[in-house]
Amino acid sequence: MTNKDTILIASDHAGFELKEKLEAELEALGYDVEDLGPSSDASIDYADYAHHLAERVSSGENARGVLLCGTGLGMSYAANRHPHVRAAVAWTPEIAALAREHNDANVLVLPARFVGEKEGRAILKAWLDTPFAGGRHARRVAKIELDEHLTREKQ
Ligand code: RB5
Repeated sequence: MTNKDTILIASDHAGFELKEKLEAELEALGYDVEDLGPSSDASIDYADYAHHLAERVSSGENARGVLLCGTGLGMSYAANRHPHVRAAVAWTPEIAALAREHNDANVLVLPARFVGEKEGRAILKAWLDTPFAGGRHARRVAKIELDEHLTREKQ
């Protein structure tokens, strides 16, 4: 297992409790995990943790990461500003599986205030176990990164 295979995990205060549980779950499943914090449920700003984790995925240092906040939204907004990061908010295992199969999601974002521990584990497992389908989905995912699309929108 290389450092690239290490799964990163981070949260804010709202996601802290579930982060601790999912980190233990990842380890129990045999994954190498690096916890980027926080180390308590004291109130912090989700963007600080999202940017830290997303930078590592964007640079290719790590292939995958898991983020948790109350709704999943703030974390996903911040993470998705980084090139090559596809952070998917998933609140059911089906959405997590489709986020992998169709969107090649390299960051899973969990809305910790809206999913319980059991559901969180199932969502995580679906994201871990589902491969990217490629084919027409690879073409669509590639278009996400195209600067020409972004500049055309502004003209
Ligand atoms: C924290 O109260 C909450 O705003 C945060 O966890 C998240 O839901 C933001 O998107």
